[in-house]
Amino acid sequence: MAQQIITIDAQEVPFQEGQTIMDAAMSAGVYIPHLCHNPEFKPQGSCRLCTVEVNGKRMAACTTKAIPGQEIQNNISALQENRRALIQMLFVEGNHICPGCPKTGNCQLQAVAYYVGMLSSHYQHFYPYRELDASHPNYVVDFNRCILCELCVRASRDVDGKNIFGISGRGIKSHLVINSTSGKLGDTDFNVDDRAALVCPVGAILRKRLRYTTPIGERLYDQQPINVVGDSTQPHAGAKKQW
Ligand code: SF4
Ligand code: FES
Repeated sequence: MAQQIITIDAQEVPFQEGQTIMDAAMSAGVYIPHLCHNPEFKPQGSCRLCTVEVNGKRMAACTTKAIPGQEIQNNISALQENRRALIQMLFVEGNHICPGCPKTGNCQLQAVAYYVGMLSSHYQHFYPYRELDASHPNYVVDFNRCILCELCVRASRDVDGKNIFGISGRGIKSHLVINSTSGKLGDTDFNVDDRAALVCPVGAILRKRLRYTTPIGERLYDQQPINVVGDSTQPHAGAKKQW
């Protein structure tokens, strides 16, 4: 199929018919910040971090089809400021205490925060209290760190065929739930081989007994910033171990 062209920040980027702007950018090694997108799964366009300007109009790169002649602005200050505000809101909505989190150095939220130059949370912290679920023999779920990207939901439903995770509630009351009679992960057939066990971009679904095994300096985003790592949705790429 013939390749067609869009431009992103004046750089010509080829694409195939049917690809989204995000697909084309990823193939060309152009980084568009994203959190809820992972090319393995159907895009859902919820985090809005990937918003770009397409011929002057703001649109989500992960759900907008590439069309020949689109002139796209991505790395411009107005969009980066918007992304910084979105990241700050995520930080205050949950409890993201990076130095005490086993995912530090391998966390996409933290890495994107660095990329957009976030120096403080800016907004008032909610400091929610959400009980951990440590009922599973090999995993703990820390709901305080969930950013509601629904990657675990999509992975469990579409790849693992188990439908273990779900989102309940609306708007500010949206939250992650476990689909078992007790609501606990330990009462599901969640398994270390599940795709959902490895897909969380933050430290919300964590393997027990495998924490802090990668020395500082060797973690994924110690080695390269998220815009260089490229497909930042693969948390293991370049890292010896995730935690
Ligand atoms: Fe996303 Fe992780 Fe929350 Fe699942 S637990 S919705 S993968 S942040
Ligand atoms: Fe596009 Fe989240 S990555 S909306």
